Amino acid sequence: MFQHVETAPPDAILGLNEAFRNDPSPEKINLSVGVYKDEKGGTPVLKCVKEAEKRLLETESTKSYLPIDGRASYNSAVRSLLFGTEHEVVTTNRAVTVQTPGGTGALRVAGDFIAANFPGASLWLSQPTWPNHPNIFTAAGVPLKTYAYFNKATNGLDFDGMLSALKGADKGDVVLLHGCCHNPTGIDPTPQQWKTIADLIQEKELLPLLDFAYQGFGEGLSEDASGLREIARSGQEMLICSSFSKNFGLYNERVGALTAVAPGQAEAIAVLSQMKKVIRSNYSNPPTHGAAVVETVLTDDSLRTMWEEELAHMRNRINGIRKLFVDKISACGIDQDFSFIQQQNGMFSFSGLNQMQVDQLRSEMSIYIVGSGRINVAGISEANVDRLCEGIKKVTS
Ligand code: LMR
Repeated sequence: MFQHVETAPPDAILGLNEAFRNDPSPEKINLSVGVYKDEKGGTPVLKCVKEAEKRLLETESTKSYLPIDGRASYNSAVRSLLFGTEHEVVTTNRAVTVQTPGGTGALRVAGDFIAANFPGASLWLSQPTWPNHPNIFTAAGVPLKTYAYFNKATNGLDFDGMLSALKGADKGDVVLLHGCCHNPTGIDPTPQQWKTIADLIQEKELLPLLDFAYQGFGEGLSEDASGLREIARSGQEMLICSSFSKNFGLYNERVGALTAVAPGQAEAIAVLSQMKKVIRSNYSNPPTHGAAVVETVLTDDSLRTMWEEELAHMRNRINGIRKLFVDKISACGIDQDFSFIQQQNGMFSFSGLNQMQVDQLRSEMSIYIVGSGRINVAGISEANVDRLCEGIKKVTS
């Protein structure tokens, strides 16, 4: 029966992580998967999470099913984190949220919801984007188109290219935007550019879908939501996929959410019913633990303060590493200019290294970088930066 089944290629990111695990080199360096690492190369559980888990262990009284859309108070805490508590979107009840297994789960629910309710609409992805985006939306049956995003010559945003592509979108098409810390480039629009994007979306009557997996890793929790809040103008509809893998370090608990902002409360109720229909036929209802942790931290003053401090520490360490990396690169006499890495945001940098250089780094030095040249900056440390620069010098000279 299974003889005809062909072996699928390994995943562009998680496949590399597996190869890293199997590499016996004691000096191996993993800059592939987007997981925060501390100074010692570990990914410890945040203190606020440990504290919330202690409380939950004492108070948990049942393992019965959650509702299809998850924990109501978690969903409400997610909306407040996205928009702030006083935002019109929140106070008029025109936004609805469903708890999902991770940000990927949110994207897939969004994809199924779009396929079922927006027949004929295309979904526009930035070029490049997270390699799992096309997988998810193709699996959901949503036709894909791409818009320019990265300008190779300037290592910056190709804003004109982006606008001119999106001007070709049809009314009702969906535009996927990275809310902050663009994955894989680390390049985000400026506030003025967000304004122009929001104008275009409004004018062309497009549906924005924000992938928001790194809130707090760019400049801060509310600063990173400024693009999203610019788009959420009066009457504007949108979808937002949240992930708490990175900013709560809850990777393996799979904690995310899909928020839909409708024109009014009646439409929001209908949208919620459709999202629940999609979920029921997929994973039925979400798991409790990770969402209960996030809800506990977000709704308790002292735990929330602790979280914001821990998140600021992660953000500051990454920014410090960007500077260290750029300084070390220029100190070791590499001709190529890598100074743009300090202008990029969040966990990732688009290094400009090509597939051949990336392959050489892996095969000759056990340094693991995604094929596109994307580097997880958080994987760099005082302990491995010299060896990394040595490798980059070798493959670029
Ligand atoms: C990444 O881009 O490395 C992360 O979002 C992890 C993943 O699932 O790919």
